[in-house]
Amino acid sequence: NEGSLWGGRFASGPAPALAALSKSTDVDWRLAPYDIAGSRAHAGVLRDAGLLTTQEHEAMLHALDRLEADVRSGAFVAADSDEDVHGALERGLLERAGDELGGKLRAGRSRNDQIATMGRMYLRDHARSVASGVLSVVEALLEQAAAHPDAPMPGRTHLQHAQPVLLSHHLLAHAWPLVRDLQRLVDWDARASVSPYGSGALAGTSLGLDPNRVAADLGLESACWNSIDGTAARDVYAEFAWVAAMIGVDLSRLSEEIIFWATKEAGFVRLHDSFSTGSSIMPQKKNPDIAELARGKSGRLIGDVTGLLSTLKGLPLAYNRDLQEDKEPVFDAVDTLELLLPAVAGMVGTLTFDTERMAELAPQGFALATDVAEWLVRQGVPFRVAHELAGEAVKAAESRGVELWDLTDEEYASVSEHLTPQVREVLTTAGSLASRDSQGGTAPTAVAAQTEELHRQLTRL
Ligand code: ARG
Repeated sequence: NEGSLWGGRFASGPAPALAALSKSTDVDWRLAPYDIAGSRAHAGVLRDAGLLTTQEHEAMLHALDRLEADVRSGAFVAADSDEDVHGALERGLLERAGDELGGKLRAGRSRNDQIATMGRMYLRDHARSVASGVLSVVEALLEQAAAHPDAPMPGRTHLQHAQPVLLSHHLLAHAWPLVRDLQRLVDWDARASVSPYGSGALAGTSLGLDPNRVAADLGLESACWNSIDGTAARDVYAEFAWVAAMIGVDLSRLSEEIIFWATKEAGFVRLHDSFSTGSSIMPQKKNPDIAELARGKSGRLIGDVTGLLSTLKGLPLAYNRDLQEDKEPVFDAVDTLELLLPAVAGMVGTLTFDTERMAELAPQGFALATDVAEWLVRQGVPFRVAHELAGEAVKAAESRGVELWDLTDEEYASVSEHLTPQVREVLTTAGSLASRDSQGGTAPTAVAAQTEELHRQLTRL
């Protein structure tokens, strides 16, 4: 049974429909370099255990080197008869090392422990490229924040004008979740760097092979402590997929705002020509497609984690073939983010903000009413009363169709004797912003401190 890893107990080969269903080389081929690295490490412990002579070990490594070169150059590819990457690579090894030597490598390992390990290695590598993509979005946000240290904008809750905030404060509010995503990837890495290699099919090996030696060769921290868990668990994949989905959702929330900011009605921002698209019929159009694709692809990333969790939900221990479905969701998450992150970073880094318009709108819609109430509190008025009085001032302004700063001293006095002309000191955007100066607030001084802390957390990653 050419190219198959099993068959001794079967009277017939697989039906074509089974072979077609079973085949996973289209998906798992990208794990080939990791599988070969695993084979090298495994050859090492076979030699240590006296199951390969020094010469056999050397010849094995030589054959694996040639196989790897041929995989990289494309000279060796999966054949139609190969079930998966492991079977294909064993076929390639037999072709290069000969049946006798090549046939010794599979001792003491199983595709079950191999695949669980290869997936972790692949995800650890790609978690690094995803992290560097996330970092470039964070850096683009930091640069935009640094370029607009004092520019105000309308801060919103319920999408309604709430209180003025600094544009830099708002941009950093999008950076923090991404910083936490980076921290999550770092935390995750500690769990991902445990090696299932040596778990065998599910019960470990009788051949005296040192799994920690394999783990170290593969750049992993340590070997797992339970071979059933090692071959059956995919929580590390699911956790990666969740972090990927969270990154997608964080990008989507940022994107939704950029889409809104770029509308004629908001007019806060202009997209750079090289990071926006046109229309095939409407010549004037300039569309925020990157932001929309980010929003759209977050749905796909959520699908990846949900699909994977659904696959895992009813599985008994240990390995079940359902687990072959573990790879597409995490590979898709990696591919999606590796494509998306550079585009989002470029879009964010090249936004042009209309700071004048944002500053003009920032205090409108009675956004300084809280400042009036808090000013009253500082004059000794209980907050319940202050809230009521500021609300009455809003009512007076609204009925006249003006803003709070347009009310006369007499109009304020008729609302309350506490509302002396001194209240005007908080009726400016700059005064409102500067007053919110405790940790985490929107005052320029607080945002400067915040920026420093964010940089500090980035350097500690
Ligand atoms: N290709 C499988 C997977 O990706 C590994 C093969 C395990 N097959 C088996 N019959 N035990 O999960």
